[in-house]
Amino acid sequence: MKFKAMTAVAALLVAAPIMGMADEEAELVVNGEIEMVTKTEPPAHLEGALPEIMSGWRFRSDETQQTQMDDFDNPGMIFVDQAQAAWDTAEGSEGKSCASCHNEPASSMEGVRAVYPKWNEEAGEVRTLAMQINDCRENQMGAEPWKYTGNEMTAMEALISIESRGMPVNVAIDGPAQSVWEEGKEMYYTRYGQLELSCANCHEDNYGNMIRADHLSQGQINGFPVYRLKNAKLNGSHARFKGCVRDTRAETFKPGSPEFVALELYVASRGNGLSVEAPSVRN
Ligand code: HEC
Ligand code: HEC
Repeated sequence: MKFKAMTAVAALLVAAPIMGMADEEAELVVNGEIEMVTKTEPPAHLEGALPEIMSGWRFRSDETQQTQMDDFDNPGMIFVDQAQAAWDTAEGSEGKSCASCHNEPASSMEGVRAVYPKWNEEAGEVRTLAMQINDCRENQMGAEPWKYTGNEMTAMEALISIESRGMPVNVAIDGPAQSVWEEGKEMYYTRYGQLELSCANCHEDNYGNMIRADHLSQGQINGFPVYRLKNAKLNGSHARFKGCVRDTRAETFKPGSPEFVALELYVASRGNGLSVEAPSVRN
């Protein structure tokens, strides 16, 4: 089995490096003031699996890297402005806006993105940021939930993430969240699809290599939601998971499904210690 997976990846790998590849030693400072940790020691649970953890930013071209270094150049910031307008707009049967209960994001959302997905005691479940936002919309505002990876949702996630930029990702994987984390871990190492490839076959065994026209990263999610030059919008992590599973020619799970929630918790925990970068820029 191991042999088969290796040949499947080998068939996709490209030998020659492509021009304009990232400078893997570059450092990310946003707006000349927010110093991001894009490479650091792995968390204890990854010992032996990865020598160091690295943000996807390090694997992008110089040009793409630069786009993320200044908010005026970062196209993802347009959506943050849109989300600020949504934050202040009353919707639903209760006539409330996010601001009615949470005031300004700067005062209420500091550090929030860094600890999600997070166990919610009252609901007895692990919640992603998107689940929590929709819970507030439905149960606090009496409004329709947003589409899980739709534009309103990714924009709101980006607005909230801004208040954690530069802080280390620090999701809890013990206590009541542990069983969900274990499920996510199992998924990460399960081979999917006709290609019989796991997340780990690409993002743990082959990061740094070229695959088709792409420089393979560790598949970290500290930068999500991510502005992709490819589709010119913000993308949620579950949309990315879906694309990666589909690339193995497997039936994929749905964004917001319990499977992807578990996978998100696990993948987030692989980045514990990297800075929250969202909204980041990728190709
Ligand atoms: C009627 C009041 C109300 C409204 C309106 C409301 N929320 Fe909430 N929100 C809450 C309460 C109560 C909590 C739970 C507080 C807690 O347990 O930390 C919460 C929690 C949250 C959290 C999690 C914070 C954390 O520390 O984990 C986020 C994120 C959030 N809300 C976002 C939003 C957004 C975005 C909107 C608008 C779309 C919104 N909320 C509208 C009352 C509201
Ligand atoms: C066939 C190889 C392959 C497999 C298997 C694969 N991916 Fe990917 N993934 C890629 C490529 C190529 C990219 C784009 C370049 C990059 O960022 O690594 C990517 C990008 C990503 C990104 C975006 C990283 C960023 O910084 O923007 C995430 C997150 C991700 N993958 C997660 C996963 C998860 C979780 C799985 C397992 C369900 C998975 N991938 C399986 C090839 C793969």
